[in-house]
Amino acid sequence: MSGHMNEPIVTVKDVVTRFGEVVVHDGVSLSVNRGEIYGLLGGSGSGKSTLLKEMIMLLQPSSGEINVLGRKLQTISAADSADLRRRWGVLFQAGALYSSLTVEENVGIKLREYSHLPEKLVRDIVAMKIDMVGLPANAAGLYPAELSGGMIKRVALARALAMDPELLFLDEPTSGLDPVGAEAFDRLILEMRDTLGLSIVMVTHDLDSIWTIVDRFAVLGERKVVAEGRLAEVLENPHPVVRQFFSGERGRLRSRNGK
Ligand SMILES: Nc1ncnc2c1ncn2[C@@H]1O[C@H](COP(=O)(O)OP(=O)(O)OP(=O)(O)O)[C@@H](O)[C@H]1O
Ligand SMILES: [Mg+2]
Repeated sequence: MSGHMNEPIVTVKDVVTRFGEVVVHDGVSLSVNRGEIYGLLGGSGSGKSTLLKEMIMLLQPSSGEINVLGRKLQTISAADSADLRRRWGVLFQAGALYSSLTVEENVGIKLREYSHLPEKLVRDIVAMKIDMVGLPANAAGLYPAELSGGMIKRVALARALAMDPELLFLDEPTSGLDPVGAEAFDRLILEMRDTLGLSIVMVTHDLDSIWTIVDRFAVLGERKVVAEGRLAEVLENPHPVVRQFFSGERGRLRSRNGK
C-alpha cells in the first residue's frame, strides 16, 4: 500500500444534505486515500450512515460533490454507475442477510446476478470467500436464523467481498458484538485490507476500532467535519465534540497513552 497512500479514492467536498427542514450536513468535506482504513466517527444522528449512503449512490446530497474511484457521482452516466457499483462492497448497519436464503446463497447473490460465471465457478468462489472470513465450510448450508451475531457479520463481509471489490464500505461492522468478537472482527478487517489491498471506509462508534485498526478518521459533529486525521492529530484537537468523544469515562485518554 505504500506509494499509494496519498492518492484519494473517495473525496467529499462541501456536501449539504437536507431532509425537509432538517439539515444533516452543512458543508462536509473529507478525503480517503487509497489503501487506508478510514473511520467515520460521530454521535448518533450526526449523519454518518447518510454520508455513507451518498458515497454509494443510494442517496443524493442536496449540494456539493462526491468523487469515488475517480468518478464524479453527481454527473455519472447510468452505465458508468452500474460499473462503479461492482467495484465496491458494502456491509450495511442493519447487516441484513436474506433470511430465506442460505449462507451460500447470500454470499453468492451478486455473483449470480451480475457475473455470468458458470455455476461451478460461482460455487468455488463462494466457498473461498466463506473460508476467507473464518467461517467453517459447513456454515454454507445454514440459514441466518441458525447463526450467531458474529457469524452473521462474517457472512455479510463475505458477501461484500464476493465481487473482489477495490473498496469496502462498512457501517458499524462491530456493533452488537461482544468485545472479544469485535476485536476478532477488527483483526479480520485489517487482514482483508492487508492481503487484498483494499481501501476501507468504516462508520464506527467503537473507540477500540479507532485505536487499533483505523489509519485516519473524520469526526462528524454540528453538521460538519470537526476533525480529520490520524489518531495522534485528532487527539490534539480542542473541539468540544472531539473532547467529548475521547475524554469521557468510556474514552481511552486516561487508560492509554496513544498508539
Ligand atoms: N431518508 C431519510 N429521510 C429523512 N430523514 C433522514 C433520512 N435518513 C436519515 N435521516 C435523518 O438524518 C439524520 C442522520 O441520520 P444517520 O442515520 O445518517 O445518522 P448516524 O450518524 O448514522 O446515526 P447512528 O450512529 O445512530 O447510526 C437523522 O436525524 C435521521 O433522522
Ligand atoms: Mg448510522
